[in-house]
Amino acid sequence: NVSHKEFNPVCGDQIELFIKLSNNKVEDVKFIGKGCAISMASISMLTEKIKNLSLQELEKIQKEDILEMIGIPLGVVRMKCGLLSLKTLSNGISKLEEENEHIRN
Ligand code: FES
Repeated sequence: NVSHKEFNPVCGDQIELFIKLSNNKVEDVKFIGKGCAISMASISMLTEKIKNLSLQELEKIQKEDILEMIGIPLGVVRMKCGLLSLKTLSNGISKLEEENEHIRN
């Protein structure tokens, strides 16, 4: 249901996220990515965290949730690494909602 790719323009690291929904909940989630340890650890942990969550719960995930999940302080540069996962998830969900809106109209 969600297939979305984002990259960090500064370093070129990228994440492609795939989410399968069932009854409006995350039934399965996978990613393909290449990048630094922080960006890859962040998306890996995020995919574990979002299993079985509803679409509404996914929308509520904030920057603070990701930083807490990573568990170490990040400087300005590393912040973008840590949050690439959230950018991919958020924009992927927005894309899905736009597609659903388009189908409804
Ligand atoms: Fe590219 Fe971390 S160095 S996302």
